[in-house]
Amino acid sequence: MSIFSSDVSYPTEQQAYAEKVRRIITAFGKTAKACVVTYGCQQNVNDSQRLKGMLRLMGYEITETEENADFIIFNTCAVREHAEDRVFGNVGATKKLKRENKNLIVAVCGCMAQQKSVADKFKESYPYVDIVFGTQVSHRLPEFVYKRLTGGKRIFELELKNEKIVEGVPIDREDRFKGYIPITYGCDNFCTYCIVPYVRGRERSRAAGEILKEAKQMVDSGYKEIMLLGQNVNSYGKGNADGINFAKLLRMINDIKGDFIIRFMTSHPKDCTEELLDAMRDCEKVERHLHLPFQSGSDRVLGAMNRRYTREKYLSLIKAARERMPDISFTTDIIVGFPGETYEEFCETLSLIKEVEFSSAFTFIYSKRQRTPAAVMPDPVSRKEKGEWFSLLLKEQDKISKKLNNNLVGQTVRVLIEEPSPEEGFLIGRSGTALNIYVEGEKDLIGTFKNVKINSYTNVLYGTVVE
Ligand code: SAH
Ligand code: SF4
Ligand code: F3S
Repeated sequence: MSIFSSDVSYPTEQQAYAEKVRRIITAFGKTAKACVVTYGCQQNVNDSQRLKGMLRLMGYEITETEENADFIIFNTCAVREHAEDRVFGNVGATKKLKRENKNLIVAVCGCMAQQKSVADKFKESYPYVDIVFGTQVSHRLPEFVYKRLTGGKRIFELELKNEKIVEGVPIDREDRFKGYIPITYGCDNFCTYCIVPYVRGRERSRAAGEILKEAKQMVDSGYKEIMLLGQNVNSYGKGNADGINFAKLLRMINDIKGDFIIRFMTSHPKDCTEELLDAMRDCEKVERHLHLPFQSGSDRVLGAMNRRYTREKYLSLIKAARERMPDISFTTDIIVGFPGETYEEFCETLSLIKEVEFSSAFTFIYSKRQRTPAAVMPDPVSRKEKGEWFSLLLKEQDKISKKLNNNLVGQTVRVLIEEPSPEEGFLIGRSGTALNIYVEGEKDLIGTFKNVKINSYTNVLYGTVVE
């Protein structure tokens, strides 16, 4: 059997609902418009592209503006409190839009909506929200829209059964040369600060055949960059019977013919193996970059976070990766002010970033998430003090990024020209080591690979195309 053969398709029941919605909304004579507002990580961006795919199947035109939409979906994130506050504010603003457009339907979905307390809040205090649905039922969007459009009750659908992944959901990729492929859904790691396992459910890996089919279709239609997504891509394949783990999957995607680059995130250090590093070294299409969140440099804090690796193990991974790929770059995620973290422990985080020299770091102040084990841990350090530590960390990382960037001046790197830059006359190119470089040039270069000489560094790297 060919690995590309697949008889999995979008459920016919949902296709039938989509067709019924299409008949209803086209009967009004004008094209109905839908707007998807996305918060959170790449996984959510990819989910939104599937929501847009289903909306198009239903006959909606996609609009970027909420004001002229007949249907608005908020695809939300729950990872930190700040993200949630913004959603409540923005959903609240649709009350006014509903007064102006009686036919407007408002839906809220994603990680935040998956929490019962949040869904209940929408039910009780936001009567103008028509549909709330969780992360594992989003493929049923046509059914929800049909039921509400035809006068049904408000819909609250939060089922989290961790069943088989629904394949074949239509997708509207937006970009024509770079795109995401989810390889795992959910997370089983239960880091004590994190809400993701509760709102996304158990980790489930897609069948390798489905991933390869999607990758091949993308490459055949001209895609130049594929980003593999998962909360922990390194544990890909657990529970699948075919024995294909992440390292093997990378090799298989690398074997697809064509000129393209393979990126992936996120890697969890506890599941980062020598086999994976070997695969990265051997696969010429895989980027020379590892996003490897370490969260804290202190073994005691790592233990309290349930990260299941030590500082020493983390540093040995960095060393093993550098031995195989001397030009590899690293980025990371860091949490400052985990409950009970002391200043001395925070200093271990500072020393770790100096030791590794990450090209950049995503840094967060700990945010308490209800239901997680860390939410009930004693947390004596004030927000103000955590803010001061956070500034120290930013300052240190900034010094490191500057030093690394200055060292790059004079080098020539291959980049994929990805988008216009905020600066007139420049485009943003991304290298195989995940550097963003401002490249002089016209928009027709977008979507092509170019060799670029890095000329200078002032806050950003600047370069010119060389042949
Ligand atoms: N699965 C990925 C991370 C997903 S969330 C991984 O484990 O690497 C992205 C980042 O948000 C995390 O790496 C962490 O640094 C941060 N984060 C998650 N929960 C948080 C919380 N409660 N407070 C502050 N930052 C948090
Ligand atoms: Fe959250 Fe940890 Fe899972 Fe990442 S690995 S999503 S931080 S529980
Ligand atoms: Fe947020 Fe959910 Fe992603 S909580 S970070 S959108 S997995």
